[in-house]
Amino acid sequence: MRRKLIAGNWKMNGSTAANAALLDGIRDGLGDARGAVAVCVPAPYFAQCQSALGGTSVKWGGQDLSLHESGAYTGEVAASMLTDFGCSYVIVGHSERRTYHGESDEIVARKTSRALRSGLVPIVCVGESLEEREAGKTDVVVGRQIDAVLNALDGSELEKIVVAYEPVWAIGTGKTATPQMAQDVHKMVRARIAQKNAEAAAKVQILYGGSMKPDNAKELLAMADIDGGLIGGASLKASDFLSIIAAA
Ligand code: 13P
Repeated sequence: MRRKLIAGNWKMNGSTAANAALLDGIRDGLGDARGAVAVCVPAPYFAQCQSALGGTSVKWGGQDLSLHESGAYTGEVAASMLTDFGCSYVIVGHSERRTYHGESDEIVARKTSRALRSGLVPIVCVGESLEEREAGKTDVVVGRQIDAVLNALDGSELEKIVVAYEPVWAIGTGKTATPQMAQDVHKMVRARIAQKNAEAAAKVQILYGGSMKPDNAKELLAMADIDGGLIGGASLKASDFLSIIAAA
């Protein structure tokens, strides 16, 4: 049985004052959540997460990492800097990075390796655009994205990744994939992993992301291959995030 994971992706939102209220709200409202919980925050707030969440069951992480270990890469944040501040997770290959920062499948695969070698759990994002879905290319596109990552990892690394299926047309739009639509893609992704390593495929958590909210979380999370959620907008409000956690 795979444990569920509910991870918040704050994107480029936050301030020390707003974060303090949100993190306290999550920590205090968590109760005895069955699944694992994490927040992926902008790098300047890693230290704040470390002091607010250290010693609790809530983990924290980043939203991107550099391909490089250190050196003359202005503006980049190294994996070792995430671990220095106690990060457990890092989102890799979010569609916003693929679209706005030109991250290719190859870069995403290399960043995934870098995260694993640094002791971070990469949350690897895959997902098709509306145009690709309407052209019937969802499996081809998502298959290509996931294969690029799987081909870059060795057998023992495969079970250490988390995958997030985030259809681009569902992100921040209020349009959610139906549970069956999401399940079909999750099943396909797991089958791709199984081609490399069946044992790892049974263990890897595959999250759904894209307008997951308190009112649709339960039915999505009930699907056989949906092992959690990567939550954008609804992770910025403690009560909404806690409702999704309670549905897991
Ligand atoms: P929304 O939940 O705001 O649609 O964002 C999803 C997402 O991109 C999480 O990474």
